[in-house]
Amino acid sequence: MLNSQSNIGIIGAGAMGSGIAQVAATAGHEVCLFDLNEKSLQNSKSKLAKIMSRLVEKGRVTIEESEAIQGRIKYVDGLSHFECCDLVIEAVVEKLQVKQELFSHLENIMKEDAVLASNTSSLSIASIGGKLKQPERLLGIHFFNPAPLMPLVEIVPSLVTDSSIVENVRDLIDSWKKITVIAKDTPGFIVNRVARPFYSEAIKMLEEGFADEATIDWAIKELGGFRMGPFELMDLIGHDVNYVVTETVWTEMYFDPRYKPALTQKRLVEANRLGRKSGQGFYNYNEESINAQPNKDEKLGNVILNRILYMLVNEAIDALFLQIASKEDIDIAMTKGVNYPKGLIAWGAEIGFDTILRGLNESFERYGDDRYRPSVLLKDIVNGKVTI
Ligand code: NAI
Repeated sequence: MLNSQSNIGIIGAGAMGSGIAQVAATAGHEVCLFDLNEKSLQNSKSKLAKIMSRLVEKGRVTIEESEAIQGRIKYVDGLSHFECCDLVIEAVVEKLQVKQELFSHLENIMKEDAVLASNTSSLSIASIGGKLKQPERLLGIHFFNPAPLMPLVEIVPSLVTDSSIVENVRDLIDSWKKITVIAKDTPGFIVNRVARPFYSEAIKMLEEGFADEATIDWAIKELGGFRMGPFELMDLIGHDVNYVVTETVWTEMYFDPRYKPALTQKRLVEANRLGRKSGQGFYNYNEESINAQPNKDEKLGNVILNRILYMLVNEAIDALFLQIASKEDIDIAMTKGVNYPKGLIAWGAEIGFDTILRGLNESFERYGDDRYRPSVLLKDIVNGKVTI
């Protein structure tokens, strides 16, 4: 049974593993952090020292607390140290075979009742546990980047995960001051599935010459209340990362056209225009370059916003239809995982599901493209067959 005294193991000291270790140590747990690469461990340790001294400067933690948090993380040089851990969360490279082999090792080292978890974004939890003797003790605990700042955690049981473990893990992660939702073991879980049209419909409008990046970003922020527009957000995430998420969801969904990636983004990746990190993506980040200014035509802006918003609501409703998560959890996931200004299902009700269905049907007719296919649940709501 996991509780506030449980020892936590983290494997992989990259961006995610380091952040999760910080969260667990801040919650008072003893943490073991391991990485195959010695340099990653050293970087993780010095990065945490910098983060903690900034938090002390800002008055968020005292010097004593900062020292205690850092003192609770042990940087270890092998998996044998995980023998005493009650929960292990892996955040190593996103490769199925690597994760499977890692858990097979851990299963032999760790206690019989220890819980095993993966922070994977795109692999199925069932496949990661497929080679285990006791797959019922494995589940997904999916944090968002940066883990110490993003409140959402998706808890993902596989088909065979023991249900008592799910509840226990949810209570534990809640006690780390995170907001947890339960998601079905399906591609993209909640957030990375439901958010796809935010990017793809924006790129579609750009490809059509309907509006440019700056205008679309302006409409989404100014008229929609989103913190970032799709193009600046993709540039921030990095096109390599964002493209792979879309491609994985699409492939895993047996090439459902609704998730089809955009050639425009693929070309950016091929040309190494990865966004902020490479100096150029949709925008140019070199100091001397001047990016285009938005066309602040409100009528055009509203058309842009609605095209994206209707598809997002449709995706959220379809996730509910397919029982990916509860209505409440779908709305929490999008506001707490990607900072949407409102939950999409609540937003849909506010706009009117009939308006959204009409908009989607018009696009479906105009383009003949299955990406605009309305969810059966959306149709049932509008036809009065179902209330949600
Ligand atoms: P990263 O590349 O920053 O770090 C991965 C670390 O794992 C590296 O330090 C590497 O040396 C280490 N590693 C690789 N194989 C290992 C092994 N067999 N044993 C021990 N250490 C090993 O990667 P990042 O971004 O931290 O992602 C890690 C995991 O978290 C992936 O599964 C990813 O899909 C997932 N994730 C990533 C998010 C992101 O925004 N970066 C968000 C949520 C989940």
